[in-house]
Amino acid sequence: MIDEAVIGEAKRYVAQAFAGDSSGHDVHHTLRVHRMACHIAEEEGADVGIVSLAALLHDVDDHKLSPRTHATLGNARAFLGEHHVAEREAQRVLAAIREVSFSENGSAPPSSIEAACVRDADRLDALGAVGIARAFAFGGAHGRALHDSEGDDASTTIAHFYDKLLLLEEMMSTRAGRRLAEGRTATIRRFLEDFYAEWDGVR
Ligand code: ADP
Ligand code: NI
Repeated sequence: MIDEAVIGEAKRYVAQAFAGDSSGHDVHHTLRVHRMACHIAEEEGADVGIVSLAALLHDVDDHKLSPRTHATLGNARAFLGEHHVAEREAQRVLAAIREVSFSENGSAPPSSIEAACVRDADRLDALGAVGIARAFAFGGAHGRALHDSEGDDASTTIAHFYDKLLLLEEMMSTRAGRRLAEGRTATIRRFLEDFYAEWDGVR
């Protein structure tokens, strides 16, 4: 059993680890993923303690944020050690974190229900109203154009919707994740329809 106090410590730890980040991996992303992963875990009957810790720690060794510890999950490992999480549970948390990343795992199925909950929650955060907001925040931070109606610029934020966001619905691993992704993808499709109509001056 994961001690409730360790979850509180993990929340404090991530608040400090992500202080000042505006790349889309801020602490609020982590806290949203945590809430959503717990919600999915309850519906799926997964171990909520393992899911909670894996969700809170899933980005502390992200390759953009902490390139030196990415391969070893050094930050997550150190946190689990310092807070005396039992070795067997620590291994389950670390295994789940490894299976979250979109770029590294693509559509390979997760090997535990706990990893599935966290991965679906992380992907859901790229969808829906929040996902749209994050995409434009990312685009702004990287100096990308909103859209190119000629289709010459492949790096626009609207292009990212087709390159990644609209594909996520098919990549969910849990029933709850699939249902939520369906609703959030519909939000994105409605947004795109409005966006093009406004871009063209139609409405
Ligand atoms: P992860 O680390 O979860 O695999 P990323 O770091 O690639 O995901 O993405 C973090 C957030 O930034 C997501 O909401 C994603 O949609 C957004 N994002 C990533 N790449 C782009 C891009 N080229 N244009 C717009 N948004 C992007
Ligand atoms: Ni994430």
